[in-house]
Amino acid sequence: MHNITVIGTGYVGLVSGTCFAEMGNRIICCDVNKDKIAMLQNGEIPIYEPGLKELVAKNVAENRLFFTSEIGEAIEDSDIIYIAVGTPMAENGEADMRYVKEVAKTIGKHLNTYKIIVNKSTVPVGTGELVRTIVANNRANERVHFDVVSNPEFLREGSAIADCMNMDRAVIGATSDKAAKVIAKLHEPLQTKIFITDLQSAEMIKYAANAFLATKISFINAIANLCERVGADVTQVSEGMGMDSRIGGKFLQAGIGYGGSCFPKDTFALAHMADQAGYDFTLLKSVISTNEAQPYVMLKKLQDLFGDYAGRRIAVLGLAFKPNTDDMRCAPSLVIIDELVKKGAIVQAYDPIAIPNARALLPAEVTYCDSVEAAVTDCDVCLILTEWDEIAGMDLASVRKLLKYPFMIDGRNCFSLQEMYEHGFVYHSVGRPAVLTARSESHPVNY
Ligand code: NAD
Ligand code: UDX
Repeated sequence: MHNITVIGTGYVGLVSGTCFAEMGNRIICCDVNKDKIAMLQNGEIPIYEPGLKELVAKNVAENRLFFTSEIGEAIEDSDIIYIAVGTPMAENGEADMRYVKEVAKTIGKHLNTYKIIVNKSTVPVGTGELVRTIVANNRANERVHFDVVSNPEFLREGSAIADCMNMDRAVIGATSDKAAKVIAKLHEPLQTKIFITDLQSAEMIKYAANAFLATKISFINAIANLCERVGADVTQVSEGMGMDSRIGGKFLQAGIGYGGSCFPKDTFALAHMADQAGYDFTLLKSVISTNEAQPYVMLKKLQDLFGDYAGRRIAVLGLAFKPNTDDMRCAPSLVIIDELVKKGAIVQAYDPIAIPNARALLPAEVTYCDSVEAAVTDCDVCLILTEWDEIAGMDLASVRKLLKYPFMIDGRNCFSLQEMYEHGFVYHSVGRPAVLTARSESHPVNY
């Protein structure tokens, strides 16, 4: 059992803190955002993450999980300090390190006993050393020692608890064997692979892993765009490619581009890191530009359908960057809906969870609906942007009836071409042949 303070109670800090508590440790989660801490102290969860509310409640009830905005006291009370604050993208693409630096300063000021300072935030190579310098320069008593460890996080939103409790590996980068062993032991209950390496390599593993996954997605999106031109089906291509164990089938789902709080910012940060190091990482830059172009591939299909779509009523199903999260950070829906509104379309949007977060980011003209059915009613066309189960499992017959025209543009390949044909849709998806002949007797001629 360890006393651990987790600084930054966002997606990563809250989930990993709760999982460490579930593993039997005493965890203090702290944050500068007092409203967030007040919510958590009241049993409310600031984010949507399946299973999180229940796991937080269980560990709070069993006296292993605590929330506070008294960060200094929390640091003094623990022997392991996890840094899990945001490292958002600065204007020039690099990772904005201001929160990490601020936390390092606070840790230094409250370094009352030996502590292991563990960086869980995704940070550029060299940050471990930077944190070490800041802590050392700010500690009141030079005789109090500390170690710095890198232990990057690989959880995905929407499946964060399962990812944390069943992680593929724990990467531990350290200069001190003693500190590395403590952090390795902390992960013992998970019975996962432990990979101990140096600080710099651990920091690079996180960026390299995210950039590699992003590369798989941009690659399959580029193949999808080519499939559309030459008459192949990208879902068949991914399946056939993925059967090769050297390639693997995961992260080969073509779509409207990757979004979220990590891939976009981390690919930019890695490209920036390469530029700074004098290496022109053109491969990664292409991954980024392919991704930025992908939402426009969907918009082009809309334009091909209607020409100018000013005044068209458009249903948008799914706003979050992926299912099972309310996170709207870098969601492709932001780019697509902005463009629709700019071109004068009337947008009726639905998402099972993300609407409150979406309201703050989308244009004021968007109308939010409380069901798939309400969103599609009287629309000229339906766009699918997120493959929530509810959306991929919608009643196609009733949606077909509620739409003004039987048009669907699916950015996530939720339906088979056969079922769309049978339900009478004109159906455009990603990297698959279009279903152009709506079987329905009411297929409009003058739309
Ligand atoms: P987040 O924005 O959800 O949460 C960060 C939290 O840190 C916020 O609550 C903020 O108030 C708090 N904070 C900022 N400055 C602070 C300070 N000085 N003291 C205390 N708290 C402070 O961020 P996140 O999504 O949890 O990401 C955190 C880090 O983990 C980032 O580096 C991110 O790249 C990385 N990461 C994120 C994910 C993910 O899926 N979200 C996955 C793996 C890694
Ligand atoms: C990602 C990494 O997977 C995780 O390891 C890291 O810790 C944080 O960043 P996350 O952003 O939560 O996790 O979700 P992920 O499932 O990776 O999806 C990211 C984006 O890629 C989503 O927009 C998703 O729709 C898209 N995606 C994913 C595809 O377009 N195709 C795929 O095959 C997989």
